[in-house]
Amino acid sequence: MVGAGYVGLTSAACLAHLGFRVTCVDNDVAKVDRLCAGEVTIAEPGLADLVVAGRTRSRLDFTTDITTLAGVDLVLLCLPTPMGPDGACNLDVFESTLAILGGVLRPGCVIVTKSTVPLGTAGRVPRLLGRADLPVVSNPEFLREGHAVEDFLHPDRVVIGADAAYRDAAEEVAALYAETGAPVLHTDPATAEVTKYASNAFLAIKASYVNVLAELCERVGADVTEVTHAMGLDDRIAPDFLTAGPGWGGSCLPKDTSALLRAAEEAGVDFALVRDAVKANARQQATVVRKVRCAVTGSADGSLVGARIGILGLAFKAGTGDLRDSPAIAIVEALARQGAILTAYDPAVGAAVGLGIHGVGVVSDPYLVAEDAAALVVLTEWPEFRTLDWTALARAVRHPVVVDMRNVLDAAELATAGFRRVGLGTSAEPMA
Ligand code: UGA
Repeated sequence: MVGAGYVGLTSAACLAHLGFRVTCVDNDVAKVDRLCAGEVTIAEPGLADLVVAGRTRSRLDFTTDITTLAGVDLVLLCLPTPMGPDGACNLDVFESTLAILGGVLRPGCVIVTKSTVPLGTAGRVPRLLGRADLPVVSNPEFLREGHAVEDFLHPDRVVIGADAAYRDAAEEVAALYAETGAPVLHTDPATAEVTKYASNAFLAIKASYVNVLAELCERVGADVTEVTHAMGLDDRIAPDFLTAGPGWGGSCLPKDTSALLRAAEEAGVDFALVRDAVKANARQQATVVRKVRCAVTGSADGSLVGARIGILGLAFKAGTGDLRDSPAIAIVEALARQGAILTAYDPAVGAAVGLGIHGVGVVSDPYLVAEDAAALVVLTEWPEFRTLDWTALARAVRHPVVVDMRNVLDAAELATAGFRRVGLGTSAEPMA
């Protein structure tokens, strides 16, 4: 395994759990030292136990020395492929690692790409390796952050893309997942690469669809939560990814929609649906900012200068402390730019994490965000926000109003505590 991020480390620990002997290489010395000591710093449920078990059974090694992979049968690439400033996938790490591996691996070693890479990358791998004797297989990962172990051990499907000449190598990769009992779909590399982008972009479209639907519901006096509940009972639609919120984010959906749009453009395909989903996502963040402004000042164009606002949730979704491309951060930045003074709390983000945004402090106690606040704003759907002592919060705030942009709080309970709740997608509080 090359790369010990949430995908690489989870895959390594799960494969060790399934009985394989895994060596995981990462160039971060401190991370490798901690992993060797059985210390896992990523908050993935079940991962730490699997790492410790893998080490105890001598099936899982960590090293910074890539040459230790010289004799392995398969190399799985789980390297970062972040989005560059121009919206394109940055393949620097991926490409430089392949160049090194080309000089290290034994003949016949199977190269498996799990990282999400631009369409057509599989075809370029032999040149990047400087070797034509290594079978190349595309095996995209579909792991969700916060559910990665569960997703690895119980995948909905395993997609394996290889040219016909590498059929044996594809079978070797399929054997990695045999124990999971998941359906394995054998296909060509291009189809496997497109499947990954197609899945993430579809999720983005689904989430943006619901956010625009929320706007419509507010204007016509309907309740988006009830609408999506009814929609989700249709097997063809399914209930997941039907929750209105402040917009989708994280390290995957924004990057993958952008990459798919770029690939479509290069191929001469006008993928307006994906483009609109991205636009709707940016608009959603602006909508949340307007809703907060309305709640604090009573008008859509009131001034936020000097207004104290308490933020509950910074991560891009509950179950992770990941702030990469989090809509919450974009919204906090926008509110701070308009002169608000913000105090934020997230159960997975320590107070020591300075956001580096002028006018924004992070605290480690949710009750501190309420002090003298003109409004509280929920931006991540952490279930524990429901069980906060809302009566105590009502005593601490200056104005008892909660802008619940994940629709996680109980309106009746809040009303009893003395709060007015502004939700998303219900007629009670029209979109600003
Ligand atoms: C996503 C995919 O779900 C994984 O299958 C994929 O493997 C992964 O990207 C990847 O490419 O590596 P992840 O980024 O962990 O996983 O997060 P999701 O659970 O998909 O959530 C993405 C965003 O959508 C979050 O900001 C979340 O709050 C938002 N979302 C989710 C909504 O706005 N509405 C919903 O109904 C659901």
